Amino acid sequence: MRNVTADTLTRAFMDYCAAETDPRLCSVLTSLATHLHAFVKETGLTHAEWRKGIELLTKAGQITDEERNEFVLFSDVLGVSSLVDMVNSPADATSSSVLGPFHVLGAPELPVGGDLLRDNDGMPLVIDGRVKDRQGRAIGGANIEIWQTADNGLYSNQDPAQAAYNLRASMTVGEDGRYGLSTVRPAPYMVPTDGPVGELLNATGRDAWRPSHLHFIIQAPGYRTLVTEVFPSDDPYLDKDAVFGVREDLVMDYLLCNEREEIPEDFAARDTIPVPFCRVSFDFTLCEAGSD
Ligand code: BEZ
Ligand code: FE
Repeated sequence: MRNVTADTLTRAFMDYCAAETDPRLCSVLTSLATHLHAFVKETGLTHAEWRKGIELLTKAGQITDEERNEFVLFSDVLGVSSLVDMVNSPADATSSSVLGPFHVLGAPELPVGGDLLRDNDGMPLVIDGRVKDRQGRAIGGANIEIWQTADNGLYSNQDPAQAAYNLRASMTVGEDGRYGLSTVRPAPYMVPTDGPVGELLNATGRDAWRPSHLHFIIQAPGYRTLVTEVFPSDDPYLDKDAVFGVREDLVMDYLLCNEREEIPEDFAARDTIPVPFCRVSFDFTLCEAGSD
C-alpha cells in the first residue's frame, strides 16, 4: 500500500501478512501491531521518547548473557510475565507465579522430611503439605523442585559464600502426595537495578523489592507443570512486589513454634532444629494436562 496514513497503517500492516501465514501468528502479530499503533497515537509519542525506548532495549540486549536476561526482567516489572501467568491459570488449581532468573537445573534429591537448613543462619522453617488434583486426590510420585534465598537475600548462584546448590532440592513425593522439608526462612530482596530496568524503576520512583518467597516447580505425568511461589503473610513487601507475583492463594501464615513435637515425626532434623522455628503447611493443586 502507498500513501499510508495514520488511519490506514494498521490495516496496511494486516494486509502485508501472507495468506499462508500460520493463523495464530497472524492474529497475535496483528493484535500486537494494533495495540502498538494505538499506543503511539494515544500518547502522541515524540521522536525523543521513541529513541529513549529503543535505547533502553539496546542496553537490555547489551547486558543480557547466559546468566542474566534483562528482557525477561522488563517483562516482569511491566507486569507482562504475571499477566501471561494469569490468563493461563486454570480455575480451582494453585495459582502460578513468576519463575524468575535464579532457577538452576540439577538440584540434589532430598527425601520427604529432609533437611535443607544445615548450617544456614536465620529463622528455621518447617514446611509440609500435599500435591493433589482438583478433586482433592493425592498425586503420588509428583516431583517438586524448590529453591530460595538464604537469610542474606541471595540465591546460591549469586553468592560465592554459599555452597553450590545451597537451599535447592528436588523431591519425589510419596503415594500419599505428601512433601515436607526443614529449611530457613527466605529473605526479601531487590531485583537487579544496575541495568535499564533499574533506570525505569528509578525514573518512576518504584520499589525494586520482592517479598520473601519459596519457589516451586511441580511436575507429574498427566498434569500441567506448576511454576509458583509461596509468600509469608507478614512480609512488608507483599503489596509492592516489583514483579506482581503475589496471589491471595499463595500467601500463608507462618506460625511461630516453640516445641519440636510440632514437627512431623519423619523429619530428619526433628531433634536438632533450633527453637523457635516457623511452621507452614501448604497444599498444591494441579490441573490435568490438556484441560481449561
Ligand atoms: C525471583 O523471584 O527470583 C525473581 C523474579 C523476577 C525477577 C527477579 C527475580
Ligand atoms: Fe525469587
